Amino acid sequence: MDYVYIKDVSKYVGKEVTIKGWLYNKRSSGKIYFLLLRDGTGIIQSVAAKGEIPDEDYELCDKITQESSMIVTGVIREDSRSPGGYELSLQHIEVVQISEPYPITPKKHGISFLMDNRHLWLRSKKQNAILRIRAEVINAVRDFFNKEGFILVDTPILTPCSVEGTTTLFETDYFGRKAYLTQSGQLYNEATCMALGKVYCFGPAFRAEKSKTRRHIIEFWQVEPEIAYAELKDVMDCAEKLIVYIVARVLEKRKDDLFAIERDIQPLENVTSPFPRITYTEAVKILHQKDEHFEWGGDFGAPQETIISESFDRPVHITHFPARIKPFYMKRPPEDEKLALGVDVLAPEGYGEIVGGGQREDNLEILEKRLKEDNLPKKDFEWYLDLRRYGSVPHGGFGLGIERTITWLCGIQHIRESIPFPRLLDRIYP
Ligand code: 4AD
Ligand code: MG
Repeated sequence: MDYVYIKDVSKYVGKEVTIKGWLYNKRSSGKIYFLLLRDGTGIIQSVAAKGEIPDEDYELCDKITQESSMIVTGVIREDSRSPGGYELSLQHIEVVQISEPYPITPKKHGISFLMDNRHLWLRSKKQNAILRIRAEVINAVRDFFNKEGFILVDTPILTPCSVEGTTTLFETDYFGRKAYLTQSGQLYNEATCMALGKVYCFGPAFRAEKSKTRRHIIEFWQVEPEIAYAELKDVMDCAEKLIVYIVARVLEKRKDDLFAIERDIQPLENVTSPFPRITYTEAVKILHQKDEHFEWGGDFGAPQETIISESFDRPVHITHFPARIKPFYMKRPPEDEKLALGVDVLAPEGYGEIVGGGQREDNLEILEKRLKEDNLPKKDFEWYLDLRRYGSVPHGGFGLGIERTITWLCGIQHIRESIPFPRLLDRIYP
């Protein structure tokens, strides 16, 4: 290649290289310009000294503005004082385009301004590091399931029915009929796991969440495994193994990025098996011990999840929820019809639920009764009921929210920074 990426400069000490990038920042002192150059793989300080580069190039240093695109040539030197440990002694500068005054300057900006400029904000150090961690999380997820023998299946995005309740459905017109953007690929995966054994789907999910929170986005990415011949415990074991794998992988490959965003990695290093496993009823007891007013039977909101998760130094499984607050498809333990064999995994440090799943109802008559109780149109679910007619077996799975996981791993305050272009209640631009 005729040019070098900044991440690789350590291999070129003493050598002349060409780097293609953008001006991140500059300052001058006497007859020297310090240009911070970024190329998407890193940032390097380059130095232009008067007399050492052609005069016209030196004059360019005065003209180039933040985010101007440029191709530079120089010699790489090891320098412990410069950020990253290497420096570029410039010999030649070619400007590709002089940037107009760049809206995002090193000073502080308000969040709504930054969100309006999300397409540019992505170039800044912290956002850059988060996106790299995101890519690592996604690769880790794929590697995990492939290595564990799961078959990747792609479930549809346009669907005729709801999975996770009707209140967050995104409706669209399907040639004169109603259709919805998928909330979850689960129901289809229940079919594909009966065909393939162990499967997973990985794609966007859509929920018209009508309240503003730090944990909800409208379009999010979810990975959903589904396993035939599995019970609740198998589902929990799989979720735990996946989370441990993701965290270890990010710690192994993305430590620099975690440091760049000032993430304290000690709590992440705790994330090893076994995770504590408690029931909903035990979780309610924790709330009461901590003087939180909460009645058995309700759904945990963010404040309760925070209190529960803060009692543990690693993720915690919560199982055996009141059936009333869980969807129609969840199996109920024969000994207590009021409960559902679901599991939520809460991330530590108050980050809330990252996994939701459980064991599915596998009995035809019970499922028919549930559809009726929930006023769901049976004809739309005939295919789903077929799975209980033709060789029904215990089975289960879960969904892990990619952005929730990234928000926790990065230790950021709001989920909106965990995805390149977040869709929020009040925002679909840019
Ligand atoms: O708990 P949920 O609703 O479970 C399901 O969708 C099941 N059908 C999954 C399954 O069993 N195959 O969602 C699963 C996860 C949540 O734990 C959370 O991490 C994430 O998806 N999630 C969201 N993330 C961001 N924004 C939202 N609006 C989310 N809704 C759910
Ligand atoms: Mg859930």
